[in-house]
Amino acid sequence: RAGEVELEARILAAKEAMGERLVILGHFYQRDEVVKHADFVGDSFQLANAALTRPDAEAIVFCGVHFMAETADILSSPDQTVILPNLAAGCSMADMADADSVADCWEQLEELFGTEPDDAGRQPVIPVTYMNSSAALKAFCGRHGGIVCTSSNAATVLDWAFERGQRVLFFPDQHLGRNTAKAMGVPLERMPMWNPRKVLGGNTEQELLDSQVILWHGFCSVHKRFTVNQIEKARADYPGVRVIVHPECPMPVVDAADEAGSTDYIRKAIAAAEPGSVFAVGTEINMVNRLAAEHPEHTIFCLDPVICPCSTMYRIHPGYLAWVLEGLVAGVVRNQIGVDSDVASDARVALERMLAAKP
Ligand code: 13P
Ligand code: SF4
Repeated sequence: RAGEVELEARILAAKEAMGERLVILGHFYQRDEVVKHADFVGDSFQLANAALTRPDAEAIVFCGVHFMAETADILSSPDQTVILPNLAAGCSMADMADADSVADCWEQLEELFGTEPDDAGRQPVIPVTYMNSSAALKAFCGRHGGIVCTSSNAATVLDWAFERGQRVLFFPDQHLGRNTAKAMGVPLERMPMWNPRKVLGGNTEQELLDSQVILWHGFCSVHKRFTVNQIEKARADYPGVRVIVHPECPMPVVDAADEAGSTDYIRKAIAAAEPGSVFAVGTEINMVNRLAAEHPEHTIFCLDPVICPCSTMYRIHPGYLAWVLEGLVAGVVRNQIGVDSDVASDARVALERMLAAKP
């Protein structure tokens, strides 16, 4: 506790010394001791936008995971410095699609479908990457007529892609892709999964020719823990409970829930509910616990009784935050995230398509 108080004092002093030259962004999954220091707290889409709203700040300290800081670096101006307090804060899902495997998949798809557009001008495949991916994959999408999505705009982005392509290659999260496309009416048999270790991703040519969305074989290790059994138990224990889950959960869980949406969707749904509501939430525990503390008028609990933090988000300890901030005060940049300028310019194309895509 004494250590916590001391760290908090160090962070506050460094923030004060930096003033308007600094902006701190925090994802909803960050622990409370970090979130309390953030100037903006949000989901990954809101934080990408927030990076654009403070062009005056010299330093953007991103309390989130690596792909989020890369996105902030791509969208911010060249004279701004983006810092990730702990460079080990990655995302296991983002690591499930590497640039070489996606390029190899693309080559096989080009061989099968060709590269010519159809009579309506739609290209054979549009690549769509979830925000939870490396800058290299966002750049890949930028170069191949593709786009980025987040969990808050995946349907809008898929609409954008279906207008321009005969089918979509969606990576890395199979669950977000499947849940979103299913809700838009795409039949499951037209969503083959691509396993990068197999020829044609483990599919027949015909399955791919008939496809509307080809799903990469990735998943989130936090959200895959949620199960239909947990939902059944919550309904038995709390009749009338509202079950709300993140769309990174597997399809049977999303189907059994009352609603699915991004972290910000979940927050807003809870804030808008009648006092006395009961929510079982299927997302990261730091966020669920914070929602429960912020809304004593409701009963809010995590669907998974075993604590399920995102272990990489959790690597942003206040000690690292204090260390990078004190570095800035002393004129020393620690843990900078810098995306190579060629990669950044192609990735920016895909990100800007997303920011411009309107529902
Ligand atoms: P949001 O886009 O809902 O913030 O989700 C990001 C994330 O990593 C969820 O696991
Ligand atoms: Fe990645 Fe899952 Fe953590 Fe989100 S919750 S950052 S998808 S590992």
